[in-house]
Amino acid sequence: MFDPVEKLKEFIRYPSISTDSHFQEGMRGAREFVTDLLSSLGFAVEVVPTKLHPIILARLGGDPGWPHVIIYGHYDVQPADPLNLWQTAPFEPTERNGRLYGRGAADNKGPLMVHISAVARLLAQDPRIPLRITFMIEGEEEMGSPSFPAFLKQHQGELRQADLVYLSDTGIVSEQQVTVTCGLRGLMLCDVEVTAAKSDLHSGLHGGVLRNPIQAVAELCASLHTPDGRVNIEGFYDDVLDVEPWERAELAKLGQSEQQYREFLGVPAFHVPPGYTPFEAVRFLPTLEFNGIGGGYQGEGTKTVIPSKAFVKISCRLVANQTPEKIRELVYRTIRERMPKDVSFRIIDEHQGTPYIVVPPDRSNTPANQPPLLAKAFRAVDTAVTEVFGRKPLYLREGGSVPIIGDIKRVLGLDSVMLGLFLPEDNLHAPNESFNLSVMRKGIAASEKILATLAGK
Ligand code: BES
Ligand code: MN
Repeated sequence: MFDPVEKLKEFIRYPSISTDSHFQEGMRGAREFVTDLLSSLGFAVEVVPTKLHPIILARLGGDPGWPHVIIYGHYDVQPADPLNLWQTAPFEPTERNGRLYGRGAADNKGPLMVHISAVARLLAQDPRIPLRITFMIEGEEEMGSPSFPAFLKQHQGELRQADLVYLSDTGIVSEQQVTVTCGLRGLMLCDVEVTAAKSDLHSGLHGGVLRNPIQAVAELCASLHTPDGRVNIEGFYDDVLDVEPWERAELAKLGQSEQQYREFLGVPAFHVPPGYTPFEAVRFLPTLEFNGIGGGYQGEGTKTVIPSKAFVKISCRLVANQTPEKIRELVYRTIRERMPKDVSFRIIDEHQGTPYIVVPPDRSNTPANQPPLLAKAFRAVDTAVTEVFGRKPLYLREGGSVPIIGDIKRVLGLDSVMLGLFLPEDNLHAPNESFNLSVMRKGIAASEKILATLAGK
């Protein structure tokens, strides 16, 4: 059996940045690393080509009567910049104070290695363990998984036969308190590009006769929220699922301090819609955010110009049971209505993802027809986490998104059991990302127990 930490270091050395075409080699390296590792464990590995980054589908078959679990993960990582803020180079994994530093250490190479290691251990003990396992590992998660829906449709006949999806691509609050993720937010993104005059203009010669495109963008943006922090778009909240009392109670068990959170963020005050705590707002409410805005002169000094163009990049985080299609329609309609009529503009579609919710067994809103193996998996996670981490997990929705989990539910009808493994201090998507190696060790032990339980051991 390999050493999981050494293997993880090897994995991190491949700079697999999916969004930047300069990193094709890194993508290929990471992919081959995973396929070689899974082949060495006895999996039949297929590399499924897509329009962009291939998806790894690795199967360990067996008796059709055995439970079948799909383990999901992603081999791509976010860009590493700003590079000057890293203490050690992002693709030279380095151990410091019980952590392994490197881009992708936590998101998602470390957690993926946890499950591969757990499977390796189980197979070392019993090569004929009565469990069918399919690893489904994609390379486009960090760019919105554009190829994934087509891949799912193409393979739905086979993949639908599985019992559930199992993954770790979400967070926990502390090493002592593991969370099982019961919901993910969805996404809907677009860009708005506004054009006023056909070229930049001298603001003395023409100032005062036309609306500045930056002003048009600013007016539009300012109209999209109410003063109390809600999204000011008709129908935006219509499909938002009510929060169950057990969910609020579970969240309250965390005992998080609002003041500490406020200080952590460094803001003088929160700006949260009425009726929700900041912690609830992140997990239970949709948002509309401006991710970037631009136009006009950005250089040193001054320039008396009326720019021709301005733009804003918008993203909405969605919650169950909103759909990205409907929200896209509502947002676009509102932009068209509110955009000043004296400028031209276009709206550019960006990617989207369906929100996701899954209810553990024995809750007020557990579906009556919940598949027994899904319920068994939740109970297995509960027992294993309690044994290994020393405390019962909490069952919480997340603010983040793993868009394909909603697609998997929609296309395959399969639910996902999400064991959170990264900590707030892991610096996902930021400089000095790291993975806590003690969490890694415990994660492997827990995952091994979980998979053994599914196999009926
Ligand atoms: N692993 C994260 C999602 C995540 C982050 C879940 C923190 C829970 C807590 C995932 O890789 C990610 O970053 N997703 C992106 C999706 C986007 C790039 C399509 C996100 O949430 O912004
Ligand atoms: Mn991730």
